[in-house]
Amino acid sequence: NGEMHSWNGDVHAVYSPICIKTENGLERKLIGTYPVCSEKEAMVALQAAVDAYDNGRGEWPTMSVANRIKCVENFTHSMLQQKDIVVKLIMWEIGKSYADSVKEFDRTVEYIYATIDALKDLDRKSSSFENEQGIIAQIRRSPLGVVLCMGPFNYPLNETFTTLIPAIIMGNTLLFKPPKHGTLLHYPLLKAFQQAFPKGVVNTIYGRGHAIVPSLMQSGKVNVLTLIGSSKVANELKKLHPKVNRLRAILGLDAKNAAIITANADLKLAVQETVLGSLSFNGQRCTALKIIFVHKSIAEPFLQQLKEEVAKLKFGMPWEKGVSLTPLPEPHKPDYLKELIADAQALGAKVINENGGEAVASFVYPAILYPVTSQMKVYREEQFGPVIPVVAYESLEEPIDYIIDSTHGQQVSIFSNDTEEVAATIDPLVNQVSRVNINCQCQRGPDVFPFTGRKDSAEGTLSVVDALRSFSIRSLVATKNNETNKR
Ligand code: G3H
Repeated sequence: NGEMHSWNGDVHAVYSPICIKTENGLERKLIGTYPVCSEKEAMVALQAAVDAYDNGRGEWPTMSVANRIKCVENFTHSMLQQKDIVVKLIMWEIGKSYADSVKEFDRTVEYIYATIDALKDLDRKSSSFENEQGIIAQIRRSPLGVVLCMGPFNYPLNETFTTLIPAIIMGNTLLFKPPKHGTLLHYPLLKAFQQAFPKGVVNTIYGRGHAIVPSLMQSGKVNVLTLIGSSKVANELKKLHPKVNRLRAILGLDAKNAAIITANADLKLAVQETVLGSLSFNGQRCTALKIIFVHKSIAEPFLQQLKEEVAKLKFGMPWEKGVSLTPLPEPHKPDYLKELIADAQALGAKVINENGGEAVASFVYPAILYPVTSQMKVYREEQFGPVIPVVAYESLEEPIDYIIDSTHGQQVSIFSNDTEEVAATIDPLVNQVSRVNINCQCQRGPDVFPFTGRKDSAEGTLSVVDALRSFSIRSLVATKNNETNKR
């Protein structure tokens, strides 16, 4: 509500994935603390958002689009002044390379400006029409109410702002909980929020999600839930809302994107894109390639080249030049990946690259697992880490059936130089996933493209224009032109 509060003295210690040597060996470095809201305090913040919205009568939901845009521009201006510290915090909190942390910041700012342009355009086009009976209607886009916004650790700034900015700019008020890994980096922006927006429009809560978010949902005061995270958490939270049919959910969830590499693929290109798609930010992207189907006839040269390319990747600290493999922020992840690899090995797969799967403190060296079969956990589970499961297939029906049977439906990549072969797969695939990539890895960008998923992978659509629509509703102001009626 425009003020900084730290009520109860409870603090959370933030440990970086970057480790230091201690007498106990390598340990995650303590890089800061933040105050933790209690459930009661989070409810106070929610009430601030409810009051600022004031059932659609508040200053913010009734403000002109032009003035709301000005506030967002002012915010962005202040945000740009914090670039250096925010980028460093991204790097320290989640272990993202310096180059990629800068990219995340810049991409977020571009996204905000693109959102502003799209809204100006939408506003210009806010159409009015008249029918033969003289009914004239003006179509507007109105806000939805109070938005509870939660972003993910892998893009703590970009993915969060992908929902937060369109939600605010459309006139909603907001309760924002930064991700567990990626909280400190939002601290320098609190002042910018405070200065740019009227009181109660953006309320940031620091806290432990499981302890505070259920009560927020149970209160029934949240009109929109927006979460980039797991479908399990999203489903549990939705169920807590007393009027779930009135809740709008805009969600980016789990994915298990597959690559299909046919016998007619350009092998070099397929290998390069597989490495990028599977291992950028250590595979911790919802859009990452998480299973590779390669045609049996080219499996051997594909795997050989894949091993060679993975071996070229540089391991190191996020600030080192040219580094692509960095420490993992989630403390449980190394053990989880080890278990996943052990399960596949027990069922007949091998780690085919040198040092694959070896873990030192928060580092895990990428593992290429082959041959992966349907009995193994890694065949269906989303690893969200540096493990590349490879399946050899004989007929294209096998990977297509895998995608049809999957509970996920975000993206797929197909690699082939045979246009007829590609054409034959597009129709069955495009009815399963929301983006089919031909001869390139799965990815979100460019950010103006609609970003969504089918089945358990998403609800609602993000991107620049789609997000503006997702966080608003069309309403009409209609009147009757009596002159037309007389004619
Ligand atoms: O984790 C999901 C991100 O939106 C993926 O974005 O494909 O640009 O890495 P990206």
